[in-house]
Amino acid sequence: MSDEHIEQPDFAEIFPLFFGHSYSQVVTTAVRLGIPDVLAGSTMSVDEIAAATQTHASSLHRLLRALVALDVATESADGGFALTPIGVLFCKSTPTPVHGAALMCGDPTLWQAWGALELAVRHGNTGFYHAFGQVIWDHLADNPVLAERIYGTMKATTSLLAPAVVAHYDFSPFTRIVDIGGGDGSLLSTVLVATEGASGVVYDIEPALRETPGVLEAAGVSGRCEVQRGDFFRSVPPGADAYLLKHILHDWDDDASARILRNCRDAVAADGKILVLTSVVPAQDEVTDPMARRVLAMSDMEMMAFHSGRERTLEEFEALFGKSGLRLGAVVTVPEHPNFHVLEALPV
Ligand SMILES: C[S@@+](CC[C@H](N)C(=O)[O-])C[C@H]1O[C@@H](n2cnc3c(N)ncnc32)[C@H](O)[C@@H]1O
Repeated sequence: MSDEHIEQPDFAEIFPLFFGHSYSQVVTTAVRLGIPDVLAGSTMSVDEIAAATQTHASSLHRLLRALVALDVATESADGGFALTPIGVLFCKSTPTPVHGAALMCGDPTLWQAWGALELAVRHGNTGFYHAFGQVIWDHLADNPVLAERIYGTMKATTSLLAPAVVAHYDFSPFTRIVDIGGGDGSLLSTVLVATEGASGVVYDIEPALRETPGVLEAAGVSGRCEVQRGDFFRSVPPGADAYLLKHILHDWDDDASARILRNCRDAVAADGKILVLTSVVPAQDEVTDPMARRVLAMSDMEMMAFHSGRERTLEEFEALFGKSGLRLGAVVTVPEHPNFHVLEALPV
């Protein structure tokens, strides 16, 4: 083929497709070193930043220049570095999930799981399992750094989402609410604050529950909310009239998800509900925004790299509920968070 037949690609579009890993490493290294926090609200020289972060000045200088190239920082003519508005988002004190997400996404263990994505596509199972021979949640018991990064990111994202959930879904009919895989309790404490008189249980495995008592205390609901350790594949606390499953089923394949749902089905009061709080994948032709399409697709790839699950369409949720002795009830949208829904699953 002669040159004139080769379509010249848009380099800006192609470059991140194979070099995106370096963008991520530059930014997450800066976050791990605390550079955005040191620079917050000030302009500093390389030597000042090196002293504050205890780093090698000439290597740091190169990293800072890379941050400038990525629009995370600016450099003045006299060598002063400062944060851009994007850089500010990476500060620990900025109330968005960006800082935590950067720490989690840059974690070396998770990079190894991504590195085994090819094996997942060739042979099935997850990248994480090919790399470590373990389910990621079991691994966290022995990897407190990664546990803190994952649970910290979940706390930050769930804290943002929870107020929108209670604004759009009416929890007032419920008297006892169990949050299955409820992590640090950010969701259930918000739900209980909005549902006076209801009691609750946050149910999860050990590493998830370290901060839970403090979160419940700070929300003023510790008097009516228990914390229980347990495995949702074995059983869940019985007798409640609402079971919350937020961002649980997308971690698991259909058989494992059906086991969790059946355990909730066996435990729920006769007139109770299982509430699946989740992203729902729209039909392909409904996703017109290219960025939304990418976010959904990358989230699905993340599930393949780390978990056995997947993002599901509404039809796939209906089929899963059907396998678990449940049927789909109301579908409530949470408009502030695109594609996020509360799906009611009702015992049949
Ligand atoms: C993706 S996180 C979602 C956490 C929380 N629901 C949220 O949305 O912020 C999945 C949760 O499932 C919990 N989990 C994983 N395996 C579990 C098991 N076998 N039994 C109970 N909880 C489990 C994890 O510890 C984690 O808190």
